[in-house]
Amino acid sequence: MLVILRRDDEEIGRQAAQLIASAVRKKPALALGLATGGTMVGVYKHLVGLHKQGSLDFSRVTTFNLDEYLGLPAAHPRSFHHFMRENFFAHVNVDSRNIHIPDGTIHGNYDQYCTSYEAAIRKAGGIDLQLLGIGRNGHIGFNEPTSSIGSRTRLKVLSRETMDDNSKFFAPGEESPRCAITMGIGTILEARKILLLATGEAKSAAVAKSIEGPITSAVSASALQLHADVTFIIDDAAASQLSQRDYYHRVLEMTALLTPDRLS
Ligand code: GLP
Repeated sequence: MLVILRRDDEEIGRQAAQLIASAVRKKPALALGLATGGTMVGVYKHLVGLHKQGSLDFSRVTTFNLDEYLGLPAAHPRSFHHFMRENFFAHVNVDSRNIHIPDGTIHGNYDQYCTSYEAAIRKAGGIDLQLLGIGRNGHIGFNEPTSSIGSRTRLKVLSRETMDDNSKFFAPGEESPRCAITMGIGTILEARKILLLATGEAKSAAVAKSIEGPITSAVSASALQLHADVTFIIDDAAASQLSQRDYYHRVLEMTALLTPDRLS
């Protein structure tokens, strides 16, 4: 596990975009796992910037989003479909046939739909690089606390805390969704490489538990300790409860010296 410490969300966005861009340049037909949320806005801004400068081509990339709210059609302004279109897909050249985002409008037969989402990932050869945010309760995707570490794509009931966090994005009086379709922790762990981004003090407890705590289904992101190639990119505020910060800084210095391609 590599922990990249950066000053603020601007630096986080730039660093993550740089790593994604080099993965696409190395493998133009990359299968890229994507995430939503405020933390990701800067990443997409930088990726769009690189594309507009002519230095990044997404024409052969295939994407798989982590999750979508159940009950929200793609056109709903709070859907993750909408978020992805506004922040990324409308501005780059990902072929629309290669974009996969769970469908929030399915009714019944959820298992069949989720199995087909997993099959599409397999058909693409598996996810090469998965981008992740983290919830205050340590969730990745919408894998709420107590999600099993082997879980696959499925319908998930959202926790009260997550519903409260999400309610600020919905109009007053508009109920925020109670369920979502999300990739499972087991699905996420099969990605060849994982990048988790976190910014701000509100994420500091979840970040510390994920990196330095025991592996437990009570903190979904702690399962990432089982993965061989995970990079956390976090700002000073999100890193504030880590006890080994000095060590991570020293590792970063040595990484820059010995294996600089891990950082760019
Ligand atoms: C939602 C998404 C997660 C994301 C989290 C954090 O819960 N399902 O994938 O990590 O939001 O969002 P933010 O970056 O806005 O804090």
